[in-house]
Amino acid sequence: MNQINQQITEKINGAEETKRQIFFMNKAKDYVETLAGKLGRKPTCCVTTFGCQMNARDSEKLAGILEKVGYELTENEEADFVIYNTCTVRDNANQRVYGRLGHLNSLKKKNPHKRIALCGCMMQEPSVIEKIKQSYRFVDLIFGTHNIYKFAELLTIMFESDNMVIDIWQDTDEIVEDLPVERKYPFKSGINIMFGCNNFCSYCIVPYVRGRERSRSPKDIIQEIEALVADGVVEIMLLGQNVNSYGKNLEEPMTFAQLLKEVEKIEGLQRIRFMTSHPKDLSDELIQVMKESKKICRHLHLPLQSGSTKILTQMNRRYTKEQYLALAEKIRKEIPDIALTTDIIVGFPGETPEDVDETIDVVKKVKYDNAFTFIYSKRTGTPAAAMENQVPEEVVKEGFDRLLKVVQDTARERVALLQGQTLDALVEEVNEQDSSLLTGRLSNNTIVHFKGGKELIGTIVPVYLKECHGFYYLGERA
Ligand code: SAH
Ligand code: SF4
Ligand code: F3S
Repeated sequence: MNQINQQITEKINGAEETKRQIFFMNKAKDYVETLAGKLGRKPTCCVTTFGCQMNARDSEKLAGILEKVGYELTENEEADFVIYNTCTVRDNANQRVYGRLGHLNSLKKKNPHKRIALCGCMMQEPSVIEKIKQSYRFVDLIFGTHNIYKFAELLTIMFESDNMVIDIWQDTDEIVEDLPVERKYPFKSGINIMFGCNNFCSYCIVPYVRGRERSRSPKDIIQEIEALVADGVVEIMLLGQNVNSYGKNLEEPMTFAQLLKEVEKIEGLQRIRFMTSHPKDLSDELIQVMKESKKICRHLHLPLQSGSTKILTQMNRRYTKEQYLALAEKIRKEIPDIALTTDIIVGFPGETPEDVDETIDVVKKVKYDNAFTFIYSKRTGTPAAAMENQVPEEVVKEGFDRLLKVVQDTARERVALLQGQTLDALVEEVNEQDSSLLTGRLSNNTIVHFKGGKELIGTIVPVYLKECHGFYYLGERA
């Protein structure tokens, strides 16, 4: 039963599956109640997320089920049930998981009722499962990205088993709706509009661990957002690895721009964000919809990856340096107050210092408001991992440092342009360092701290941007 790659749970169609999972939630609840009796208190659980917004959203689904079956959510890993929702996009994400597992084991030795589970992208790699089976025998439950909707069922199997339970699927075409979700923030939420990725950028493991691209129906998306708005959500983020290809595989195809227009109509919803846009699929229709919208935030994350056409070709990104620059220019011209952010990889196989110069040239021309720079990480099974011309570490480091300096200088310049303006901020939390301050987010994603009481959390208030501190502002309520 606990063999890798063997499906211990079965696939059936969506609506039936929701019913089945509700059945298993009730069953799991009985087990949790029995545990509560033994402990003399409500059992606690902790969901730890590694990786991107998709994983963060998946973790809210895990938390929803855990709460439903009777656990109390905590952020403390001493909890009776701990689940790591893992990421494998770069090797350091994997190393962090292994590093922390040792600590979980020592906590488990102190609490005989403690159960440990692993799920997420890293679990879709057979070599990872082998390693856990060999060296981390204390893990109780492992599942992957495709069967996360079976979490309640897998929990009951875990309670009934003395061995490590492993259920990993190779892929799925199923989308299961209407399972419980426990949101991290009451006022904002991510919404999956699609799953998987078909792009196969040559460095990237995501298509292998998240499977083929599938879009949710617009009806299900709209209904979910309406329910969220009725529950107090004012800002949503539509999530997909490449939102610009949304809707292509639907029975009645629909573009992402058309979906946005429908979402815009939802009354009470105030802000719309989305992640991520692949430059090759970004349409004029989308730019127009953004331009005319009152709700879509003035922020576009447009991953560049490299500014060298030679490297872009090797990366299978399917645009050139010139096409990217022309696109960025068009967007800035149509929507002048938009913030552009990006992702860049340094050290892709075959990259020379001259290629890094090309990337730096794009950064200087586009002037990103923020850029996430990553050192290339070799991912087993991707085409780039098999390329022979891997770049020596010291060359990568030199290019990375050079790029980072330009990225930071241009970002500072861009953020400083807002000085003296009064703009709306969604108040997200009390500032961690100084509790007299609130932290808010502008439409263009810039952060501003200002004095105010916590009753403002979740509301949108105008803030005067008084002092620019590099990448954020100190402001005053206007
Ligand atoms: N779907 C999104 C990105 C998902 S991964 C997109 O296409 O933009 C987030 C970022 O991680 C990528 O944009 C890329 O910059 C980075 N990344 C992906 N694979 C990587 C690797 N093997 N090494 C280093 N960075 C990587
Ligand atoms: Fe990875 Fe490319 Fe898909 Fe983004 S678009 S998830 S970088 S393969
Ligand atoms: Fe990581 Fe999976 Fe997201 S690999 S970046 S958590 S899709």
